Amino acid sequence: MRRHLQFLGLTLTLGELDERLAWATRERPGATALLEHVLGLEAAHKLEERIARRVHSSGLVERKALEAFDWNFQPKLDKAFVLELARLDFVRRRDDLVITGKTGTGKSHILKAFALRACEQGIRMRYARCVDLLDDLHAGLADGSYARRLKAWASPALLIIDDVGLGQVKKRGDEPTAAHTLYNLIDRRHSKVSTAVTSNIALSDWGRFLGDATLTAAILDRLAMHAIRIDIDGPSYRQHVATERAGQRPATAPPSS
Ligand SMILES: Nc1ncnc2c1ncn2[C@@H]1O[C@H](COP(=O)(O)OP(=O)(O)OP(=O)(O)O)[C@@H](O)[C@H]1O
Ligand SMILES: [Mg+2]
Repeated sequence: MRRHLQFLGLTLTLGELDERLAWATRERPGATALLEHVLGLEAAHKLEERIARRVHSSGLVERKALEAFDWNFQPKLDKAFVLELARLDFVRRRDDLVITGKTGTGKSHILKAFALRACEQGIRMRYARCVDLLDDLHAGLADGSYARRLKAWASPALLIIDDVGLGQVKKRGDEPTAAHTLYNLIDRRHSKVSTAVTSNIALSDWGRFLGDATLTAAILDRLAMHAIRIDIDGPSYRQHVATERAGQRPATAPPSS
């Protein structure tokens, strides 16, 4: 039997065969229940492995779930709307999504949760912080792999560009501006596949961040103007956590004289 399991690639059952047999001896399930039990565990394991591979290759380094999102903390955010978007029908419709709001309001949390859902649903997705995406493309200019890299960023059904406006967009002498590079990418993706973006700066400040007002206007015309928009108007959860922690810290003893 171990040989069959090995050949079929049923690695979980192979590793836990003694456990399964002990269960069958103890519970005495019927043939159907036994098969259902063994195959069910193996299938769940295979699915989890597949999701983990997709998460890894997508560039998503942190798993966030909407189940862990405290909606009461952000009462102005339309929970029903976000949950509806989380079904990812907007990806199938090839719509874009732009989430803006001040720092710490949960923008990245929501898109990372969407990213995970995409992996679970088998939607081809890539995730990157804006500065990392630009660095990757600009590295391609140096070693001749720009076209290949651009294609790789342009093709996924969902591309998440997180944190536009955060970090330093590095520009070496002869490199195109960030606006130029991002324009090339957004123009390729627009109306064909879905792009989701978060930003904690106003769209009117993107030009300064990306280094070219005219090309930024062209990006915003393709992306933001026709995208599904969410603006999170509320407090910072990071600040909330820091305040809570400070409140829990034991009072320091007065210095002894
Ligand atoms: N409503 C919430 N419930 C639970 N956790 C939250 C909530 N909002 C934010 N967080 C958590 O707070 C931290 C900061 O959130 P997040 O990174 O999503 O903020 P952001 O809006 O993207 O900020 P920035 O503009 O600085 O990138 C994360 O660890 C996130 O999981
Ligand atoms: Mg963020």
